[in-house]
Amino acid sequence: MAVIMRVLLQLLFSFMFVSGKISSSVSKEEGLKGHFIFGDSHVDSGNNNYLPSTSRADLPPNGIDFKASGGWPTGRFTNGRTITDIIGEELGQPNYAPPYLAPSTKGAALLNGVNYASGAGGILNHTGSLFVNRLGMDIQIDYFNKTRKQLDEVVEGLTAKEFLMKKSIFSIVIGSNDILNNYLLPGISIAQMLLEPPEQFVQHLISHFRGQLMRLYSLDARKFVVTNIGPLGCIPYQKTVNRVSSDSECVSLPNDLAMNYNARLKELLEELNHNLPEAKFLYANLYDILMEVITNHQQYGFETAGVACCGIGGKYAGFIPCGPTSPMCWDRSKYVFWDPYHPTEATNLIIAKNFLDGQQNQISPNNIRQLKYL
Ligand SMILES: *[C@@H]1O[C@H](CO)[C@@H](O)[C@H](O)[C@H]1NC(C)=O
Ligand SMILES: *[C@@H]1O[C@H](CO)[C@@H](O)[C@H](O)[C@H]1NC(C)=O
Repeated sequence: MAVIMRVLLQLLFSFMFVSGKISSSVSKEEGLKGHFIFGDSHVDSGNNNYLPSTSRADLPPNGIDFKASGGWPTGRFTNGRTITDIIGEELGQPNYAPPYLAPSTKGAALLNGVNYASGAGGILNHTGSLFVNRLGMDIQIDYFNKTRKQLDEVVEGLTAKEFLMKKSIFSIVIGSNDILNNYLLPGISIAQMLLEPPEQFVQHLISHFRGQLMRLYSLDARKFVVTNIGPLGCIPYQKTVNRVSSDSECVSLPNDLAMNYNARLKELLEELNHNLPEAKFLYANLYDILMEVITNHQQYGFETAGVACCGIGGKYAGFIPCGPTSPMCWDRSKYVFWDPYHPTEATNLIIAKNFLDGQQNQISPNNIRQLKYL
């Protein structure tokens, strides 16, 4: 039954919703053409629907508030828009960047950019292997290399190189799974931690990520928005598996690992800004923005920052991901987290707004609005 439902939904969705047209026709800002998106489930817009993966969000009520699909699931791991959907809209894109694996992502559709992000994907190639299949960052860049060649045939009036260097942005949201679904995985983690202490693991991640960013640069990417890792110890999943007793308490090890990685990431981006001519790497501080929302959630209009709106497991509903059999909260706008891992659209709106218009402690050395696309 579930299988039939999944197949039907997938068919429906691949015919109708893949190239989700953004309903508001107001072009808020002239300039952004291609939005190229890399990363994990925070920004996956449907790639995992095409993979034999157990990490997927193609069943209701995922997407219930996503207007472009009329509330049907698209593979986005949230109730509505992702952070990169909102950023694309705000920069005046007429369509969301389509998922790379969707068959309709070809020809003129590439002029919106492409989304390569994949639930369970990480910086390291083996991250997320528990979920059977996903696109890791190395493979996402291989795919971008393919898109890049196809762009030569569809870009008009300027070269593909100019299109990428001047009219496009590269949004990257990755790293959480390297920590959660690799380093901290129960059972595997103890042996691995002995072999590779946290500091060394973080260095390993950073050096691999440096290679990946330089590869994108060599393929003409110039304007990068790189998101750091959020407060993983505060997500309902971590609170559930670690049996945290109060709503306001978070788990320290995942948060410490994230902060440690984030400090190295900031140095890496400063190094690349200094060394790579004409490149602009923005460090988007998801950690501090989300931590502020969680800590002061009532001031932002949320009722809880600990309990997932849709999920099963303990008092935080933080173990089994959102699906047709999960209870769902009534008012999604009152929850910081949609499911055991991912923020609601309401939270994504706050994060995106801070990336677009924030100050130095939210995004540095500039905010996204200050990037020019001319
Ligand atoms: C990365 O993993 C994929 C399977 O997910 C595999 O096909 C590929 O060969 C791996 N690449 C490297 C460099 O290990
Ligand atoms: C892109 O693909 C070509 C083969 O089509 C290969 O020669 C080149 O090394 C690739 N570039 C990068 C940066 O991966």
